[in-house]
Amino acid sequence: MTPWTMIFAVDSNWNIGYDGDMLFKIHADLRRFRRMTKSNIIIMGRKTFESLPDQKPLPNRINIVVTRDRDFLRQGVTVVHGLEALKTLVEGLVMESGGALRPFLIGGGQLARQCLSWCDHALITKVFRSFDQSDTLIPNLDEDPDWVPVWNSRRYSQDDLIYQYVNYERAQSRVVRPSPALKGELDDGKR
Ligand SMILES: NC(=O)c1ccc[n+]([C@@H]2O[C@H](COP(=O)([O-])OP(=O)(O)OC[C@H]3O[C@@H](n4cnc5c(N)ncnc54)[C@H](OP(=O)(O)O)[C@@H]3O)[C@@H](O)[C@H]2O)c1
Repeated sequence: MTPWTMIFAVDSNWNIGYDGDMLFKIHADLRRFRRMTKSNIIIMGRKTFESLPDQKPLPNRINIVVTRDRDFLRQGVTVVHGLEALKTLVEGLVMESGGALRPFLIGGGQLARQCLSWCDHALITKVFRSFDQSDTLIPNLDEDPDWVPVWNSRRYSQDDLIYQYVNYERAQSRVVRPSPALKGELDDGKR
């Protein structure tokens, strides 16, 4: 199976959301997200889809939404109803593209927990603050020996938020198969 890349913005406790929305919006991070995922596959749970602006798919990407709701239908969205169907669909799209398409898991907490084992890269934007009001989190990769940080940017700031980009790889994948995609991410962090 083609490994996926997770892309998330977390607070210092790896919280990612509250009440259906993100905890913070960092403009440079959102631009980076767009650049990274453009022309690729983005995979999300139904709640993350509903948190997108106007509940519309993000343009210039293949948008896949996972839901158990058999009536869920949105223009420009490919809907799947379970994890096995999701895995098969993504694998088919990657194969058809000759490996050109890269699958990104973009949210939210439920999908991250269920699909973590299918990912071997993680692009994490770390905000150095703990948000008291949060109800959604993803697994803390710093506490998971399967994951190693392989690169971090310098620290940036927006208003009173200080943040940093950190790229992780699954330890096993580093030995077996250094990722060709990593170079772009390294370059990106040198802004
Ligand atoms: N900071 C970040 O980087 C970031 C990124 C993305 C999202 N977020 C935030 O995360 C929050 C949303 O995350 P969440 O964990 O609440 O929800 P989520 O993972 O986005 O979506 C959960 C929904 O996905 C569907 N689903 C999950 N597992 C499924 C399975 N095995 N089979 C079929 N359908 C399945 C279900 O939809 P149905 O109920 O329709 O069946 C479920 O209610 C929001 O606050 C959002 O703003 C933050």
